[in-house]
Amino acid sequence: KEFIRIELGDKKLFLLSNREPYMHIKEGENIKCVVPAGGLVTALDPVMKACDGVWIAHGAGDADREVVDREDKIRVPPEKPSYTLKRVWLTKEEEKKYYYGFSNEGLWPLCHITYVRPVFRKEDWIEYQRVNEKFANALLDEIKDEDSPLVLVQDYHLALVPLLIKQKRPDAKIALFWHIPWPNPEVFGICPWAREILIGMLGADLIGFHIQFYCNNFLDTVDRFLESKIDWEHFSIERRGQITTVKPFPISVSFEDFSDNVENKAKLKVKLIKELGIKAEYIGVGVDRIDYTKGILERFLGIERFLEKYPQFIGKFSFVQFGSPSRTHIKQYREIMDAVEEVADRINWKFQSNNYKPIVFLKGYHPHSKIIPFYKIADLCMVTSLHDGMNLVAKEFIASREDESGVLILSQFAGASRELKDAVIINPYDIESIADAIYDALTMDEDEKMERMRKMRSFIQERNIYRWTRDLIASLVRL
Ligand code: F6P
Repeated sequence: KEFIRIELGDKKLFLLSNREPYMHIKEGENIKCVVPAGGLVTALDPVMKACDGVWIAHGAGDADREVVDREDKIRVPPEKPSYTLKRVWLTKEEEKKYYYGFSNEGLWPLCHITYVRPVFRKEDWIEYQRVNEKFANALLDEIKDEDSPLVLVQDYHLALVPLLIKQKRPDAKIALFWHIPWPNPEVFGICPWAREILIGMLGADLIGFHIQFYCNNFLDTVDRFLESKIDWEHFSIERRGQITTVKPFPISVSFEDFSDNVENKAKLKVKLIKELGIKAEYIGVGVDRIDYTKGILERFLGIERFLEKYPQFIGKFSFVQFGSPSRTHIKQYREIMDAVEEVADRINWKFQSNNYKPIVFLKGYHPHSKIIPFYKIADLCMVTSLHDGMNLVAKEFIASREDESGVLILSQFAGASRELKDAVIINPYDIESIADAIYDALTMDEDEKMERMRKMRSFIQERNIYRWTRDLIASLVRL
């Protein structure tokens, strides 16, 4: 944290994202403030708490709207205010076309290889441009008294913001971080506005992706679609006098936020199992937004195959799946939610007896305080994404294991697999390999488990979210 402050000097940090870190929702007559699910907030909220600044985001939870001041700015988190949250209010129509439409029916499936066909509608694109302008204007207003402000733009919802800012404030130092994969040029070219998106992004001085592979794809895409000068050695692009450097910055978590010591793990395990109302000896855990990219169905089919293949675990192994509903106004998200429930139900019906249930599906919003105890007592954690920029659940699980036990089963298609080589790596399309990985995890020698976990923990302890921010800011200010 100190290093971030040193890099910032006397500068304030300005961060823009679609998703807000604290949502105000109505619960009966009361207004409740919740932290939404998703990697972006998990990663960046600790950073903003540590260095203050202004976070500009879509005010999706607007239950408090009538009671905030005129500028719509509040200090968060409510229990210990440490930074400013400025909300951009969107109309239903804007949200429908910019967020659900262009961002999540267009760019999201375009960038993830899951064979869900992207949909690009002209009216969504128009709204996407307008909303990007709205975000840029909100920022421009905030930085009017700042010299060379440092601006961190987050993710695919705001691809046009860097250029919109740069045109008005050439002195601003802008980084754009893309939290999801970047596809190859053939795939990106499907987007009818591929050029416009690239031009918008290239307003940034620095563009970050999680891994080198996405940086390579990005440069190839620029090379294919735009007139520009590319320096392949230094990974930079020059276009109309603006130079943009492209670099990998693998995102991470705040290690310390997960590492409370549990005195009696066995007792905690018994307590949690009892609270679930089931009987089990071994526990697996999964934590996801319910999204078709996460491979939740494949995970459940892997559990089914595991119990068929290794019946000695029937009655002993239960998998606890936390699933927060996500983007539910999109058909594919409603479908995947139904399918996940249906498959869990079918598998439970097949193997359950007395109090035994192989899959406990906890659908809904779950705060970290409810999830972390399960990370701590689980024998294994499963991340089976079909494609994922990074996946922070994998890192949260590791950070939670101060006992150096537990096994991480990790998809080879999650960015995290490039770093966490001591996980049990699987191909989620290969159900048999998931089943065998569960067996291997549950029967792994305690020394081997510890050896693997120790290595992954020391990696994440060092490469935590503060280091990520420090590296990003240091690269930006030195450009
Ligand atoms: O990781 C990509 C991302 O879109 C993040 O921006 C966000 O934290 C997460 O997925 C959740 O998505 P949404 O904000 O649409 O709920």
